[in-house]
Amino acid sequence: MDTKLRGFVLSVYIVFGLPVITAHNDPSNKIMEDFSGYPIHEPQSQDSLLSLSVDSEGLQKQIDELSTLSETPAPSVTRILYSEKDVLARRFIKNLMGLSGLSVREDAVGNIFGRWDGDEPELAPVSTGSHIDAIPYSGKYDGVIGVLGAIEAINVLKRSGFKPKRSLEVIMFTSEEPTRFGISCLGSRLLAGSKELAELLKKTVDSQNISFFDAARFAGYANHLQDLTSVFLEKGSYSAFIELHIEQGPILEEEATSIGVVTAIAAPASIKVDFEGSGGHAGAVLMPMSRNDAGLAAAELALAVEKFVLESGSIDTVGTVGILELHPGAINSIPSKSHLEIDTRDIDEKRRNVVIEKIHQSALSISENRGVKLSEFKIVNQDPPALSDDLITMAMESACQELNLTFRKMISRAYHDSLFMARISPMGMIFIPCYKGYSHKPEEFAAIEDIANGVRVLALTLAKLSLA
Ligand SMILES: *[C@@H]1O[C@H](CO)[C@@H](O)[C@H](O)[C@H]1NC(C)=O
Ligand SMILES: *[C@@H]1O[C@H](CO)[C@@H](O)[C@H](O)[C@H]1NC(C)=O
Ligand SMILES: [Zn+2]
Repeated sequence: MDTKLRGFVLSVYIVFGLPVITAHNDPSNKIMEDFSGYPIHEPQSQDSLLSLSVDSEGLQKQIDELSTLSETPAPSVTRILYSEKDVLARRFIKNLMGLSGLSVREDAVGNIFGRWDGDEPELAPVSTGSHIDAIPYSGKYDGVIGVLGAIEAINVLKRSGFKPKRSLEVIMFTSEEPTRFGISCLGSRLLAGSKELAELLKKTVDSQNISFFDAARFAGYANHLQDLTSVFLEKGSYSAFIELHIEQGPILEEEATSIGVVTAIAAPASIKVDFEGSGGHAGAVLMPMSRNDAGLAAAELALAVEKFVLESGSIDTVGTVGILELHPGAINSIPSKSHLEIDTRDIDEKRRNVVIEKIHQSALSISENRGVKLSEFKIVNQDPPALSDDLITMAMESACQELNLTFRKMISRAYHDSLFMARISPMGMIFIPCYKGYSHKPEEFAAIEDIANGVRVLALTLAKLSLA
């Protein structure tokens, strides 16, 4: 049996306060070795293992302190990209990274990286992170626990005396939320090498007509002209990326399950549709033949969306008409124009694209049958969904088992920076329960015990993957 792995397994047990396997020839060691499935590392010194647990009190304090860096009063949190509060929050994060002994780097758009060099720093590091921007009047946990929790996971490993083989890196992504410039996951999209976005940002302004670059410069970024290709990371820059996040859904809390191991992230496609008819007087224009009612065309398409989504046969296919506007919008006027915005999501890209194609065909036939013009059918975005990496989900599941935490596999219906990191790195996500699934509002809440469980699973998973 390899003494190196035994050292690792041993240290992980000590770290998390579970029964320590001492005898070198204890047969349960062999089981653990098979179980973890990860190769060898330097034995960890038992003597250097200090604290065994997450500093929950300290972590809660950090979450509370970060939430005060907000443009709206507590309990709401509003933190908009490159605002004064965002700059202060970034300073807060960099400071914590520094206190944890990480070497800090920032890129041209303010993605922040804190690295702990491993014994073999030439290997691709294992990374983890999330975002800290917050939409207006939202809560203090979305994204935040995946950044502060990641830093605490590093602290847990450091206190335990663990020595990474691959370097470990904490990432704070710029602007996961689309609030200011209408672009979600701005930082991670760029990291994943989106040339379209790098171009688009050259002419992007916010609602106050402040350019992206002026805003970035206000926050101390984007100093070298307008070249954002420096932000791009090569595929393979990381051996793994893991994001810890609140579920933003009710399942874990309802089931009293501690951890969600995310197997896939659904991705939305958004479609904008416009119909145009002749309009006319609601009393005078007769019903048969002569009406071409753009409102009814929209209504018919909305129902068709529901039908096509249900036809997919999977609970993971969803579709929503969240916007339906009629013009001129008078009770006694036949709608001459209608506008719909459709969001459809799935974890299976083909299946989602079948739904989109059916919606398109339906819009065309409705337009023909009702004699209205389909003046626009625009697929605004169509990001591919992402699957988690099997080795990462296996590492997360082993971590849960070793930590005696209940877990279940689940998909993420919301999307996250992980969706884009999956383009350049094997990816996995850890969900923890949150109160009633609330998110993006001040009532958003996650119990510190649940957060601490998530941090433990994250720490142990990082440790395993660092040695892989
Ligand atoms: C926005 O700013 C640009 C450049 O400063 C200017 O040319 C343009 O007229 C402004 N647009 C509006 C709507 O104010
Ligand atoms: C694991 O959890 C079970 C059920 O909650 C409990 O009975 C058991 O004592 C726990 N074991 C350890 C090692 O914590
Ligand atoms: Zn988030």
